[in-house]
Amino acid sequence: MALLTWDSSRYSVGVKSIDCQHSVLFGLINDLHEAMLKGQAQSQTGPLLRKLVVYTQTHFTEEEEMMAAAKYPNLAEHQVKHHDLIQQVSDFELRLKRMRLD
Ligand SMILES: [Fe+2]
Repeated sequence: MALLTWDSSRYSVGVKSIDCQHSVLFGLINDLHEAMLKGQAQSQTGPLLRKLVVYTQTHFTEEEEMMAAAKYPNLAEHQVKHHDLIQQVSDFELRLKRMRLD
């Protein structure tokens, strides 16, 4: 069973392109979760995690550009949250790589 299920009535932000990207993120997280549950080798979870990090960075950049264009008043606060999340995932990825090297 998937960890996350996209439900537009709950998660839609009303912008089709962002909803689509969020839905893709759900899928990437589910793929990673499934691989980890199956105990798949780090050689498989590592690339899935990398894919999630890259897609998330791309998504955040686009989302922040849209927020800036719309003069979203809480953009700076939102950027800090994005930055913190990317940092957490990158730290996790680094720990995973170190485990692989040990
Ligand atoms: Fe987002």
